[in-house]
Amino acid sequence: MPEGSGAKRPKIIAVANQKGGVRKTTTAINLGAALAEEGLNILLVDIDPQGNASTGLGIDAGDREYTTFDLILDETPLDRVVRKTDVDGLWIAPSTTDLSSADIELAGSDNRSTVLRQALRQDAMLTFGFDYILIDCPPALGLLTVNAMVAADSVLVPLQSEFFALEGLSQLMLTIREVRGSANPDLRIEGVLLTMSDKRNNLSRHVEDDARETLGELVFRTVVPRNVRLSEAPSYAMPVTEFDPMSKGSLAYRALAQEMVYRRELVTT
Ligand SMILES: Nc1ncnc2c1ncn2[C@@H]1O[C@H](COP(=O)(O)OP(=O)(O)O)[C@@H](O)[C@H]1O
Ligand SMILES: [Mg+2]
Repeated sequence: MPEGSGAKRPKIIAVANQKGGVRKTTTAINLGAALAEEGLNILLVDIDPQGNASTGLGIDAGDREYTTFDLILDETPLDRVVRKTDVDGLWIAPSTTDLSSADIELAGSDNRSTVLRQALRQDAMLTFGFDYILIDCPPALGLLTVNAMVAADSVLVPLQSEFFALEGLSQLMLTIREVRGSANPDLRIEGVLLTMSDKRNNLSRHVEDDARETLGELVFRTVVPRNVRLSEAPSYAMPVTEFDPMSKGSLAYRALAQEMVYRRELVTT
């Protein structure tokens, strides 16, 4: 399709892992910012009731009038929920703690696993001209994460290189298979992103080797090193790419953005 002749649907990627602290939010924010630096339009959808992505991008809790809670449970129009961040090209649908009741509120409804898909794939989304939508999932495999997987084209799985890293992954893969078997047969795996919990010591290297051997092509070549700038940036309400543009964390997320965009095809396993 020639440019400008019609809007194309954005690619939707769920950043998911039921473990907390494996760097889902850090990845959603900084991959989003790195893609935006490339001139792409990115929407980050925060569906973690903790709202770390929203806070990390400078949307104060008191300043979240319409949120993903309204989007998911109240059919609130997108243009009320979606807002600009201070980063050019990066937009956010913020969350609030209200969302912690979503699992219960959704449980009784017929379309409990498809509401986010309906919200993110509606025609009104095309008017924003987003290239990618990144969904920052909560640390659980409940209805919110399932909604993200049902809405998504693919799942990006951050994995921290520590001793039990690969445990839990089978549960995640099972959930992905279940979603494929029901509401979203086209769901792919975008890739598994290794992040270093330590300096590149023997254990980290062992976990990396293990992951590459077990998961093969699924694992991104890019590895995110341990980098304190990545943990400092959110308290300045900035992605690391703006907080410290030449830090190792910035370079890693830019490399990931490149790898993701230019990888020839998605892995289907
Ligand atoms: N590469 C890194 N090096 C050091 N600390 C990091 C790195 N990436 C993330 N962090 C920090 O680790 C913690 C957990 O990351 P977070 O993205 O919130 O995980 P999740 O969203 O999976 O719970 C946060 O305090 C974050 O700032
Ligand atoms: Mg998080």
